[in-house]
Amino acid sequence: MKLFLDTADLDQMREACRWGIVDGATTNPTLVSKTGREPRELYAEICRLVPGPVSLECMATEADAIVAEAQQLATIAENVVIKIPIIPEGLIAVKRLTALRIQTNVTVVCSPLQALLAAKCGATYVSPFVGRWDAMGQVGMEMIRQIKTIFDNYGFATQILVASARHPLHVLEAALAGAHVTTIPLEVMKQLYQHPMSDVIIEQFVNDWAKVPAKG
Ligand code: E4P
Repeated sequence: MKLFLDTADLDQMREACRWGIVDGATTNPTLVSKTGREPRELYAEICRLVPGPVSLECMATEADAIVAEAQQLATIAENVVIKIPIIPEGLIAVKRLTALRIQTNVTVVCSPLQALLAAKCGATYVSPFVGRWDAMGQVGMEMIRQIKTIFDNYGFATQILVASARHPLHVLEAALAGAHVTTIPLEVMKQLYQHPMSDVIIEQFVNDWAKVPAKG
């Protein structure tokens, strides 16, 4: 499963990309607003840094305007993926962008049927928001499992990009469900490395190594 970093913060991207496990990145209007940066300039820097697809969100709401905005965003770099919210006009634009060979990520997906519609329009990725589902007292991962079954049943090439992931268990369950990608904040990416048992064992080895005589 690929791991994307869910941020627009360049320092966070530099830090995580150094680890060699970042396959791409996702941004959204909220994350961009936190940086205080001019978007297009920021997007260009992110696309240079990240060794893989970078999702940039369209803010237009009418199909012609979405396509025009997407075409502009696509000129920023070759690794740009156009993020489009799941609205009827958005899916009209997705179909047109697919014909133009521009990659798309249908975002804010909150039901398996929305994912089905996005796949029918040729979306490159669908982004189901699992953390937001959990917050409503529902099991977000159930949506992922259902989308996986639907896509497998009909051979859709659209990739499932698990979004709004909040903790390592979301990453584990996404991988077990066969999702193609999970996008996570830097803090969750750091947590993936951690286990208290590993710390204990490493400490034991370090202490024992100190007792080994005549090293060198
Ligand atoms: C994914 O592409 C989104 O940026 C992200 O995961 C949104 O999730 P959140 O707003 O629930 O954190």
